Amino acid sequence: MPEPIAPFITLPSLPDDVPGAPCAMVVFGASGDLTKRKLVPALFNLACEGLLPDGFALLGFARTPLNEEKFRGAMTESIKRYGTRQFNAAVWEKFVQRLFYQQHEYDDPASYTALKAQLQKLDRDCGTQGNHIFYLSTPPGFFPTIIENLGAAGLNLEERGKFSRVVIEKPFGRDLASAVKLNEIVYQQFQEHQVFRIDHYLGKETVQNILVFRFANGIFEPIWNRRYVDHVQITVAETIGIEGRGSYYETAGVLRDMIQNHIFHLLAYIAMEPPIDINATKVRDEEVKLLDAVQRMRPEQVPVRAVRGQYGEATVDDRWLPSYREEKGVAADSQVETFAALKLYIDNWRWAGVPFYLRSGKCLPERRAEIAIQFNRAPLQLFRHQEVKQLSPNLLEMRLQPDEGISLRFETKKPGTKIRMQTVDMQFDYTRSFDTNYSTGYETLLHDCMTGDSTLFARADMVETAWKVIQPIQEVWQNTAAEFPNYPGGTWGPIEANHLLQRDGRGWLQG
Ligand SMILES: NC(=O)c1ccc[n+]([C@@H]2O[C@H](COP(=O)([O-])OP(=O)(O)OC[C@H]3O[C@@H](n4cnc5c(N)ncnc54)[C@H](OP(=O)(O)O)[C@@H]3O)[C@@H](O)[C@H]2O)c1
Repeated sequence: MPEPIAPFITLPSLPDDVPGAPCAMVVFGASGDLTKRKLVPALFNLACEGLLPDGFALLGFARTPLNEEKFRGAMTESIKRYGTRQFNAAVWEKFVQRLFYQQHEYDDPASYTALKAQLQKLDRDCGTQGNHIFYLSTPPGFFPTIIENLGAAGLNLEERGKFSRVVIEKPFGRDLASAVKLNEIVYQQFQEHQVFRIDHYLGKETVQNILVFRFANGIFEPIWNRRYVDHVQITVAETIGIEGRGSYYETAGVLRDMIQNHIFHLLAYIAMEPPIDINATKVRDEEVKLLDAVQRMRPEQVPVRAVRGQYGEATVDDRWLPSYREEKGVAADSQVETFAALKLYIDNWRWAGVPFYLRSGKCLPERRAEIAIQFNRAPLQLFRHQEVKQLSPNLLEMRLQPDEGISLRFETKKPGTKIRMQTVDMQFDYTRSFDTNYSTGYETLLHDCMTGDSTLFARADMVETAWKVIQPIQEVWQNTAAEFPNYPGGTWGPIEANHLLQRDGRGWLQG
């Protein structure tokens, strides 16, 4: 007798939120911006939620001469400024006792011998049980030295069920060759399951919600393909300039800083095939497959499918904004792009022929991050004899910033005796639907690191595949001078970014 077909399939359920495993987290570069603005506030938020293990310690490792008392004092000051929830003094009092600091040199083996001894002490005193997380929060030039010294000191070893994990901040390399080299250095000391290449964008609720939206709702999957989707737009727009980070930005540009990592993660989540399970291997396998299917541009395609820009001076709301080239630490003839727009194709059965338009830039008119999926128009304009203007296509918008939510745009009939249409939006707004505390975006990622779940972290092959897509664009741009600046601050980038879509009979949703 044939087995009855199951109406649905369930996978084993997972336990509710539980604290991460006991561990000591060593933060290299703890005197810096990221530690005070994001890491400590995020760990504190976890403590407030009961998700930080009782056996926890954070050990700051940096060159700045600080002692424990000063470090704790500085963090107490900064939590009041950067904390994302109402300050809970009782939880903070307990939390701050778990913060430690040692002044060290990143390239001095003796510093790592001392670190090892300090970790053994913390394991005894704070119940961190020999589990260690090494968070590389220095400029990327120090990553290789730190990784090699951790290995030389034996701090990379996982013995008797203890874990040793390394969290590597972005940027991961500045091109394909440097990313491959960095992966090689990492692999000489750590195995992939120990490595957490962080992209804080994936810590955002709405980014993770893309997976839920796509794979926990049955109605969208049948239309999520080339037969129904006209095109996809991904915009990550910032109103700010480079905020004094000129020397860093001169080595980066928006292609490296935003597109190769944040925007490609969004692209992968939006376009990948359903994984057979939500776990680190299966989800990331699909992400890599998707990025691998992104058509690499030939050199002659780059000027047609990729637009670069750099902001010039402008007056916005009576405020004068300097051009990028006038910012501190920026060369007067800088060729670094502060804006980029790309038209990509994905060569697989689902997406063949569907353009994906990506753009990101600084000094744009709005702070906005969103993904918009525009569906094909209705095939027949049935209402052509009525007083009907042009039909708008259906649009699904997933907003990540500034307000997080999802909206679906469709046509409705305006009340009245005649058929007149109006475009309306059906809205889901995160803050209205859920009682959430504002987070830093790092909470989930730090917690995942403690539980050993690397689903939301970039795997080596993902990083390299993303660089392979970027590489041909980088090469053409490096070899041809741009006429910069080519957009005034406070506008939606150079006019060529509009032409990119206009040539296809389309337009950006904003700008
Ligand atoms: N800040 C953010 O919001 C953010 C967001 C995403 C990614 N990241 C990444 O996270 C890492 C840390 O970011 P961050 O903003 O904390 O960096 P940061 O403040 O510039 O540097 C962190 C620490 O690194 C040490 N350092 C060593 N050489 C340095 C140099 N040449 N210039 C400046 N500092 C140097 C300094 O500590 P000592 O001198 O005391 O040793 C400094 O306090 C970077 O890789 C960055 O790309 C940061």
